[in-house]
Amino acid sequence: MKYDRQVDTALTELAELFQQRYGHAPTLLSRAPGRLEILGNHTDYNDGTVLSVAIDRAARIAAAPNPEAKDGMLCRLYDIKGRSTREFRLDDLDNRRRGDWANYIKGLVVEFNLQGFKVPAFDAMVTGDVPLSAGMSSSAALEMCMGLILDRLSDARLTWLELAKIGQGCENNYVGAHTGLLDQISSLKGKAGQLIYSDFRSFEVQNVPMPAGTVFVVANSMVKHNLTNEYNERREACEEAARILGVKALRDVTPEQLEERKADLPEVVYRRAKHVVGEIARVAAGQAALANGDLDRFGQLMTESHESSRHNFENSCPEIDTLVEIGRTLPGFLGARISGGGFGGISVHLVKTESAQAYCEQLGAFYQKRSGICSRPMILSAADGAAIWEN
Ligand code: GLA
Repeated sequence: MKYDRQVDTALTELAELFQQRYGHAPTLLSRAPGRLEILGNHTDYNDGTVLSVAIDRAARIAAAPNPEAKDGMLCRLYDIKGRSTREFRLDDLDNRRRGDWANYIKGLVVEFNLQGFKVPAFDAMVTGDVPLSAGMSSSAALEMCMGLILDRLSDARLTWLELAKIGQGCENNYVGAHTGLLDQISSLKGKAGQLIYSDFRSFEVQNVPMPAGTVFVVANSMVKHNLTNEYNERREACEEAARILGVKALRDVTPEQLEERKADLPEVVYRRAKHVVGEIARVAAGQAALANGDLDRFGQLMTESHESSRHNFENSCPEIDTLVEIGRTLPGFLGARISGGGFGGISVHLVKTESAQAYCEQLGAFYQKRSGICSRPMILSAADGAAIWEN
């Protein structure tokens, strides 16, 4: 599709800044949102199911082939928000720097190459408003935004699932986080006003309307999370549980079956599995509650999910627990939980629309009082998934 200046002011501005910096116009513009995980925590890599939502916070990229790359190898990147420049050569990609944002782009190029697609030298300018390291998938937003650009530049023309897997490959192989496909799929398959139901075995993805009369309030605990060691360890425990139980993945076990085999599992492994199996059951119950318009039940499932994170999966932290506890005392509260990988990041609250503004203010004020941390809870809307335009 051809880009129209009216589509997105921030993207139009980015195109202008690109022209000023590189002296040529971008040929491609893309945008990809972050996501909230609503129910189904750590179920994606267990072949499970998740309800998530793409949010109105996104990564944005302007890009074009680099006309100055004499030997066709030099890529130039500029991140507006961080005011940081990176350059790398296409024949020297195996040089990750720990914690560096450019890893997500170099890692994608590596994955395209592994799939047999040749990426030409390019210039790219990046910006975005997804909070970093907070559990809203700023990294997957960047990957899908850049992935769409690389897909065009290399003429790969991947399907959405292939593109999501390229993003996951970048995380798993280049960055070293053994994450599932939730974040990439949510970034690609969002729809304004709708949740996303994903089945990570069949890869069936459906949009489901937001519960009527509600919004999501998101509070950043300001505890930065880093999804490598602990995340990978949790994943290993789930895989160990599946091995001992003799199933392909925890998707194949019901909560009742797990209880019957409890004695066969080491205690910690049992609790990890209990969380995942319980979450998959809660997603099914959540779907039914949505279909029946039962908001209280849906909210209650979210809060139960948090309790399970806290006690079984141990991927919450005192700050997020505090946010959920405060939420429970506020008018308009329906449910709240940790969202995403965990170990910090955000809590997501389902709140009645008419109470949401006051809820945000009170949540922020009480959180500051109890933890000394300043966080500005915000209302986020369900947005459309990633898109690319020719300029
Ligand atoms: C992170 C990972 C996802 C998923 C969630 C937990 O966001 O990237 O793949 O596992 O944690 O549900």
